[in-house]
Amino acid sequence: MTATGPVLGIETSCDETAAAVLGPDGAILAEAVLSQDGHAAFGGVVPEIAARAHLAHLPGLVARVMGQAGVEFRRLGAVAASAGPGLIGGLIVGAGFAKGAALARGVPYIAVNHLEAHALTARLPGVTEGGAPFPYLLLLVSGGHCQCAVVEGVGRYRRLGGTIDDAVGEAFDKVAKLLGLGWPGGPAVERLARDGDPTAIDLPRPLFGRPGCDFSFSGLKTAVAQIVARQPDGPLPAQLAADIAASFQRAVAEVVADRAGHAMAAFAPASHRLLVVAGGVAANGAIRAALTEAAAARGFAFTAPPLRLCGDNAVMVAWAGLERLRLGWTDGLDHAPRPRWPLDAADMHPA
Ligand code: KG4
Ligand code: ZN
Repeated sequence: MTATGPVLGIETSCDETAAAVLGPDGAILAEAVLSQDGHAAFGGVVPEIAARAHLAHLPGLVARVMGQAGVEFRRLGAVAASAGPGLIGGLIVGAGFAKGAALARGVPYIAVNHLEAHALTARLPGVTEGGAPFPYLLLLVSGGHCQCAVVEGVGRYRRLGGTIDDAVGEAFDKVAKLLGLGWPGGPAVERLARDGDPTAIDLPRPLFGRPGCDFSFSGLKTAVAQIVARQPDGPLPAQLAADIAASFQRAVAEVVADRAGHAMAAFAPASHRLLVVAGGVAANGAIRAALTEAAAARGFAFTAPPLRLCGDNAVMVAWAGLERLRLGWTDGLDHAPRPRWPLDAADMHPA
């Protein structure tokens, strides 16, 4: 099935309220992301604040992208929303809005798995040189998720490994908090790391060199906490804070590249070897550089989406919606958003 008109995508699974309109061929007609600022004082996302903010901002944001795209509601081909995994209050707001629009216009509703949206970003026209045919290797690194999987097709994922404790973005956020930086922590740690020496502080590299593709970050975070705790009371000296940020970032980049190396060895198709990184942490320059090198060493092409499409956005949701629509996979208005929804869940594709 091809889309009969543009697709509206909606993203509300965490603290970004986002909407986008894509043409039936995947061209981006309009996109907008509103990062909520009400969470900083709490050092993390407060689910109730997030859900209320989505409710307040989503209708205006959708009107804005529809206006920018020059698309009237009656010309839409489908409406897609992140329906999980994520914070349930926000998911209910986004999925409810999408269902309402689909029902009012008599067009299909598509319940998109947020992780699949990250996973398929590499196939968005123009993102991967020469395209990203299936299968390819996915490294998903975000605030809530950290895993390696083979993307065999739309809705078809084979998990190779994942974190046994913290997600990598969570580790960045916790280290940022220890260093007294703002929220979200990843970009703040990366900025501070520019002034630091990545070899200054010896930090552990959990699971480095071990077989398999699992990850672990809690020991690394604890090592940083112990260094900070040993300092006299008061703010950390600026150079020490920068050295910690740089050394932590180096340790994470080395571990991520090592684990990706094991995943590439486990997944080695005869032709078209492609490693794709996705998720908020994929915006990190040191991690992108380490993965570029690891992929080249194993004869893999490497795709990292443009920075604005790494973190949560609605372009990826609309695109995943289009991919599913092309296969004729739409969802009923009784589809319930869900806080947990792994990529390899049985209902990711029709039986
Ligand atoms: O994909 P995303 O926007 O939301 C989730 O689905 O989790 O990822 C957000 C995570 C946060 O933990 C944030 O600190 C991290 O991605 N992040 C970064 C960078 N930009 C965002 N981590 C390291 N370096 C960055 N430049
Ligand atoms: Zn995400």
